[in-house]
Amino acid sequence: MMNNREIEENFEEYSSHKKGELEIEIDGQVCSARIFFFDEDFMKKHFTPHSDGRIIISKEVIEKFNPDNIDNSYFWKLAAKSFPVMAIGDKPEWLHTDDLRIKNFDAISNLHKPLGALSCLCSFLDRNPNARILEIGPGFGNIKKYIENHYNIENYYAMDICPHFEFERLYKCDGKNIPKEVPYPIDIVYAVNVFQHLTKEQKRSYYKQIEIILREGGEFIFQSFVATEKSLMEKNENNEYYFGVIDEDGQPYVHFFNQITPVDFLEDIIKEFEDLDLNLVDKVIFKNVGIFRAIKN
Ligand SMILES: C[S@@+](CC[C@H](N)C(=O)[O-])C[C@H]1O[C@@H](n2cnc3c(N)ncnc32)[C@H](O)[C@@H]1O
Repeated sequence: MMNNREIEENFEEYSSHKKGELEIEIDGQVCSARIFFFDEDFMKKHFTPHSDGRIIISKEVIEKFNPDNIDNSYFWKLAAKSFPVMAIGDKPEWLHTDDLRIKNFDAISNLHKPLGALSCLCSFLDRNPNARILEIGPGFGNIKKYIENHYNIENYYAMDICPHFEFERLYKCDGKNIPKEVPYPIDIVYAVNVFQHLTKEQKRSYYKQIEIILREGGEFIFQSFVATEKSLMEKNENNEYYFGVIDEDGQPYVHFFNQITPVDFLEDIIKEFEDLDLNLVDKVIFKNVGIFRAIKN
């Protein structure tokens, strides 16, 4: 459990490093999607290289910034202040323009389209042109822009924990509750590459609230990293494990800044939905990513 002063100290630790010393950069800009800002001794103690190339992280480091144990809104406030440029993807080949903020807009073709999340959303909106949409974790608003160009933007609402992102009808949230400003019933909830950054408790809390705000027949579409026996052993084109960070029990983790969160196993997601009034009708797994579509009973 960390108090706010300790969170501040950690961001100060980050600022104490000279530019270029710690940052992983894309075109000279900070790439926050890859950054850790622990001090060197801490890293040595808690990040142990495994002979197969993976990194084993200690339970202590996982707990340190666990969003369930800290003032999450404060963490993100400091994160946004300390990292004026926020990257939501870290692949240089996605980037085309000089402005990293704009470069992130390529997420539509690189994240939302390839596995079909966007086509699930569009298919619903084509059938329900006046649908009220809630996006969780929109980042820079890639989907908002898309909706603006193709559908009725008046019906689009969003919520995000990071104060870095600001636009109309985007509401700040505490990381596990749907803000009361979001009107309901909602027809469709959409979240791409967000749920992997949440703890089990945060996810469960969102699932339960989505179950409440969705109208009957409404849909919940989400894309997230997902672990399977196969994806745990698979490597990417750079010969790195998709899930290169694990704990001593083999549980894989991902991170966004210093928040290290567990990747769900496919069977756990399926089991979780069995207890909800959300019927998991479709799931597509591609390598380390899953797209899920659930319909409110
Ligand atoms: C990897 S980015 C994806 C952004 C966007 N969905 C896209 O694909 O362009 C993850 C987003 O989730 C947000 N986020 C992280 N934790 C969250 C939480 N607990 N509740 C809501 N949003 C969260 C981040 O601030 C960020 O905008």
